[in-house]
Amino acid sequence: MATFSNISQMFLCFMISSTLMVKIGLSQDAPEPSNAPGPLSSNEKYLTNCGSHLYPNCGDEVFSAIFFGNKTVSEYCCDKLVNDVGKMCHDDMTKYILTLPKFRAHETQILKRSQTVWFDCVLQDYPWIGPAVAES
Ligand SMILES: *[C@@H]1O[C@H](CO)[C@@H](O)[C@H](O)[C@H]1NC(C)=O
Repeated sequence: MATFSNISQMFLCFMISSTLMVKIGLSQDAPEPSNAPGPLSSNEKYLTNCGSHLYPNCGDEVFSAIFFGNKTVSEYCCDKLVNDVGKMCHDDMTKYILTLPKFRAHETQILKRSQTVWFDCVLQDYPWIGPAVAES
């Protein structure tokens, strides 16, 4: 349990930030090969920033729930997801991670689970508005 949790947190961190690190590293070390990756795109900065609300405790749960479908997101983490991360960031993080070949193969399933996780969390957090949102 602890092991998986560590691995998946590292993995998620890795996925969201490693590309960014590499880019930062390259742009600092290598003075200007013409095809060097640019500085962080504003999209990547935004994802790193908004996704960081899931740490340290909730990255694992949300990640497993969406990408493996074998975990339920706790009330605590749902609350963080809905109120701190937000729908736009949730969707954008999912899309960003789906650019990895490992997950792209299961794109349809993962996108569906991503929506399910989101709506379940909204329902849990706001039972009175949930149904209207979930139906739209
Ligand atoms: C969920 O699935 C992943 C990948 O198969 C596995 O590594 C992990 O241990 C599972 N997590 C839980 C909570 O069962």
